[in-house]
Amino acid sequence: MLNPMLMSAGVALLAVFYYLQSAAPANGPVAPRIEALLLSSYHDYASNGWPFDVYGPISHDRRNMPRSGDPLGWIIVDTIDTLMIAYNYTESDDTRVDLLQKISRIENWVRDELSYDIDAEVNIFETTIRMLGGLLSAYHLSSELSIGQPQVYLDKAVDLGDRLARAFGQSQSPIPYSSVNLHDGRAIKNHVDNGASSTAEFTTLQLEFKYLSAITGDRKYWDLAEQVYEPLYKVNHIFENYDGLVPIYTQPDTAEFWGNNIRFGSRGDSFYEYLLKQYLLTHEVMYYNLYRKAIDGMKKHLVKESFPSGLTYIAEKPWGLNGPASSKMDHLVCFMGGLLAMGATEGFPVDQARTMPFWDADHNDDWLLAMKLTHTCYQMYHQTPSGLAPEIVVFNYDETSANGEFEEISELDRQNWWLSPTEDFFVKPLDGHNLQRPETVESIMFMYHLSNDTTYREWGEEILDSFVKNTEVKPNGKDSVYTSLNNCMQLPTVKRDNMESFWLAETLKYLYLLFQDDVDLTSIVFNTEAHPFPVIDEATLNKYNLTTGWSLD
Ligand SMILES: *[C@@H]1O[C@H](CO)[C@@H](O)[C@H](O)[C@H]1NC(C)=O
Ligand SMILES: *[C@@H]1O[C@H](CO)[C@@H](O)[C@H](O)[C@H]1NC(C)=O
Ligand SMILES: *[C@@H]1O[C@H](CO)[C@@H](O)[C@H](O)[C@H]1NC(C)=O
Repeated sequence: MLNPMLMSAGVALLAVFYYLQSAAPANGPVAPRIEALLLSSYHDYASNGWPFDVYGPISHDRRNMPRSGDPLGWIIVDTIDTLMIAYNYTESDDTRVDLLQKISRIENWVRDELSYDIDAEVNIFETTIRMLGGLLSAYHLSSELSIGQPQVYLDKAVDLGDRLARAFGQSQSPIPYSSVNLHDGRAIKNHVDNGASSTAEFTTLQLEFKYLSAITGDRKYWDLAEQVYEPLYKVNHIFENYDGLVPIYTQPDTAEFWGNNIRFGSRGDSFYEYLLKQYLLTHEVMYYNLYRKAIDGMKKHLVKESFPSGLTYIAEKPWGLNGPASSKMDHLVCFMGGLLAMGATEGFPVDQARTMPFWDADHNDDWLLAMKLTHTCYQMYHQTPSGLAPEIVVFNYDETSANGEFEEISELDRQNWWLSPTEDFFVKPLDGHNLQRPETVESIMFMYHLSNDTTYREWGEEILDSFVKNTEVKPNGKDSVYTSLNNCMQLPTVKRDNMESFWLAETLKYLYLLFQDDVDLTSIVFNTEAHPFPVIDEATLNKYNLTTGWSLD
């Protein structure tokens, strides 16, 4: 007969096992695990950080971004559509009820508490992609899924859009300064970088402003956002002098580039992203042509392979196109796999895209490059001790045949920097932080749905497991929360007391969508903060006369 003590211990163990399973089944279906992760991160914020813009999940330190102390809704507004998407897809009735309560608390807060009449300057780009983008996609999804009152989000989006729109027309060119005071409308030049704006800042407003025009019928936003391109392209002769690529700084008063640093990482990235995504959102052919030129320039000047295994990556040209390449790549660049794949297929499964009239050698080549880059970005996770990618890597090159192609990595650096197991990339001591960024899982999500290749889900699950294992903290000894890392290059990882809003807005959303079967990428376009907008149909474009208002001639 079985020892009764052992038996009850066994029952207790079983009970614990089932409890853990229902909380977040460790090896069960992946989508419910991501729901559990989303809910625990969000619940922690809503309990301890609400309604502040900046939140430390370890200390519960919190503050607002504007100098006036008012909240912008940084985390709240950025997260609404992730909750709505989970509400739509979840298979658990309890989770659906829980999500609906959370969404309705947010809707009430946006309606009753959130005011953008804030007497402080805010960055136009960040506020547009996160707050305006978040409100617009909340409007779209609350209508589409019949959740609450879409008008609450639309009213707030129009109010914010009008406040941001006032920034235009205050510099000497159609390119706005970097910041605007939301109360009095005064635009303010960048305080550093000799007053230059990042080129990706004023070229990453167009999806939001164009969609706002399409739903309000007011062309104003469309025209304001679009007018930055003509001076930028013509003053700088981007096709002739830069092969379609752009340096990362622009002087807003003259529209001239400042410096020659060309890269697809920070300050350059979403310039390229929004060229393609405008084409996908509105089907304006002009923007595909600008994208095509840029991608051809990128292939000619920046696409390289690491030594010894030949991982494909996008290098930088810090001294202009004729200077040596830097083999450094920001994690931010990892969005490019997904972007190239969407450009190649226009959102159709690749087998279908190959049979369509637009498919040609360029599309085919873009698709192959998308697969290679996504593989490289996966390796940036797979090869580190924590399974998480650092903020920046430096790819190795063959010293014996480099011939001045690359900025040199000194022998001392080669000894001091961390070298990956395959020796294909280094990580500098100060670049080992991990902010739970989305770009790699973003590309993996696109690649999976466009290729139907389950390898991508395996990569996504591996990265998910690494986030769970190595960004988790239990401040009160029992509840799990997830935080940024000061160092992901050692174990245990060194935690940083901050949760970025894009963890909830982007990283968890893209991971979650990776594990849904029913995702149609032809009918939605994600802005650069992962907020989905519906493709604008021809009838709407015609009705409001929304057309491309410039040309290169
Ligand atoms: C909602 O989920 C269904 C599948 O259950 C899917 O077909 C649909 O595209 C989703 N809608 C949105 C807006 O995500
Ligand atoms: C995707 O692959 C699965 C098998 O992994 C298959 O059952 C399904 O039909 C495929 N779907 C498409 C659209 O090719
Ligand atoms: C439509 O917009 C274009 C400029 O983009 C303008 O030239 C044209 O007159 C407008 N048409 C109408 C009917 O307003």
